[in-house]
Amino acid sequence: MDNKEFIEKLISWYNVNKRDLPWRKTRDSFKIWLSEIILQQTRVAQGLPYYLKFINNFNNVEQLAVADEQFVLRLWQGLGYYSRARNLHKCAREVHENFDGKFPESYEKLIKLPGIGKYTAAAIASFAYMEKVPVIDGNVYRVLSRIFGVDADIADGRGQKVFEKLAAELMPETHPDIYNQAIMEFGALQCTPKNPACTQCIFNIECFARRNNKQNELPVKSKK
Ligand code: ADE
Repeated sequence: MDNKEFIEKLISWYNVNKRDLPWRKTRDSFKIWLSEIILQQTRVAQGLPYYLKFINNFNNVEQLAVADEQFVLRLWQGLGYYSRARNLHKCAREVHENFDGKFPESYEKLIKLPGIGKYTAAAIASFAYMEKVPVIDGNVYRVLSRIFGVDADIADGRGQKVFEKLAAELMPETHPDIYNQAIMEFGALQCTPKNPACTQCIFNIECFARRNNKQNELPVKSKK
């Protein structure tokens, strides 16, 4: 299977199987950023009502930036990891003060903002601004390691680099937003951590893990 075939099959699968999620229907960088911060370490079912609550209270970065910190923390209540909420507010203030209320439009600039790491910068850059940068989260590590038989350790920097290189090579020329959503969704719904339904998988002929019965050994993650 070449890269083009992989991309085409993945996107066809996504078009049929994707969940209907509100942050996938917008190009508003504020809403996309908000959804990605809420969804860090949080499941979609738990994060969704918080996302709706935040966008109902704040229409844009400025409204969040000037809001009282206690009010923001109160809206966040129940999600845990309160440093995320503090960073959320801090990031909103920075974008309001230094970028005139508009998120910068490149991965390289986004990653300098508080609470925005490699994954979130790539998500915003590709979903809001169509930049051709791959998102790499736990879903993506799992999908790539299994299908392509990559046994590099995702817990160390050298191993992560191997995945970054492969993910960049696979990145299509067009629709980086759809491709990135598709590979994450495939990991979340089909190529699941436990008991993946490989007999019903579109890649069951090509998949290295399936052919070698290594679904439970990939991705490799050493305990550090
Ligand atoms: N988890 C993190 N980001 C997500 C997204 N954009 N869609 C679905 N689940 C996600």
